[in-house]
Amino acid sequence: MLQCGIIGCGRVAPNHYSGFASTGATAVKWACDRDAAAARDFAAQFDIPRVTADAQEVFDDPAVSIVSIATDHRQHFPLALAAIRAGKHVLIEKPLVLEIEHAETLIAEARRRGVLVAGISQHRFDPQVGQVKRVIDAGALGKLLLVNARLLSGRAADYFAESYWRGLRLHEGGSALINQAYHVIDIVLWLAGPACKVQAFADRLVHGEVVETEDTLAAILQFKNGAVGNLSVTTGYLGTAWDSCVEVVGSAGRIVFDINFPHAIHRWEVPGAAFKPLTGAEINAAAPGMSYYGASHQAQIQDFVQAVQGRRALRFGPETALDTVRVILDIYESACANGFAWGHVERAAGPLNPATTAR
Ligand SMILES: NC(=O)c1ccc[n+]([C@@H]2O[C@H](COP(=O)([O-])OP(=O)(O)OC[C@H]3O[C@@H](n4cnc5c(N)ncnc54)[C@H](O)[C@@H]3O)[C@@H](O)[C@H]2O)c1
Repeated sequence: MLQCGIIGCGRVAPNHYSGFASTGATAVKWACDRDAAAARDFAAQFDIPRVTADAQEVFDDPAVSIVSIATDHRQHFPLALAAIRAGKHVLIEKPLVLEIEHAETLIAEARRRGVLVAGISQHRFDPQVGQVKRVIDAGALGKLLLVNARLLSGRAADYFAESYWRGLRLHEGGSALINQAYHVIDIVLWLAGPACKVQAFADRLVHGEVVETEDTLAAILQFKNGAVGNLSVTTGYLGTAWDSCVEVVGSAGRIVFDINFPHAIHRWEVPGAAFKPLTGAEINAAAPGMSYYGASHQAQIQDFVQAVQGRRALRFGPETALDTVRVILDIYESACANGFAWGHVERAAGPLNPATTAR
């Protein structure tokens, strides 16, 4: 069994535990959270034998081969770098990092040490999204014309105010786009990308009292293949927890689907290609964390573990995650050029762990 450690035992951590548990080849040895009580509770819930508040203890354990990083965005880089330098394979939650140079450093360092690094992008492993990708790549939609996507999500003020990092620019790097809509833009880029030009507008229309980041954003994209599209996202619509929609229009066909869980195809107008409905098992697969995270962490973690075992190449390497971060940063840059300004709020923020912030 390959031994693993999970760094950050918050909302998404159960998805990592269940992903490792599903491989049949890995055992989670360490639950690590700088909030010692969170680490203890998580370890008790999943029967994880070792608990620590200090990530370096996990990195120093020679029995550990793989660590996953599931902390606030700002700490992905220093924690992943320390893990790679300790010779661990590292799976990092989205977004991979907040700065391009940080991703380049991780990729170079992992290559030098002969370990794998990758970013979580679980919706690329959703069976329905895979079907959409295959018909697009087969040319069944004809020439790609438009890709329109949106995400409505309801985030109450407490969601931000009670977190040490959400809504704070330094720690999160943005909100509605880089956090909630990350998977929507990631899927759009997978289906239609790469993107070559963006224009964007953003604002804090609802949560200005508690966040420095955007709660509402709209972007127009042009892709290298000539198609154009748009992305709109808000975290301010309290009428829903999560409601996504992606529309892909080609000269010969159209598909409309979502990446909610279980996700659905709303329109399948694809000449010559039948849609294969989800199986009962796929529809009923339990989502280990919040339902809208879905169940595909398992598939991605299985892929990662098989790559560590040398049985296959990673389906999506770190460059893929970097490409998505690059477009997200371009969108923010455009929004700022079009008048958006990051805010400033006074509330308790988490420390930037000095042990892990060194380059
Ligand atoms: N893929 C998905 O669908 C999905 C869903 C939710 C969250 N996420 C991502 O997962 C990450 C974590 O999000 P979350 O919602 O679980 O956050 P969270 O705030 O619930 O949990 C983060 C945990 O990390 C801990 N932590 C912070 N710094 C640490 C350090 N140096 N060492 C050890 N522990 C540390 C915190 O104490 C906290 O318990 C983010 O990158 C987020 O974007 C991904």
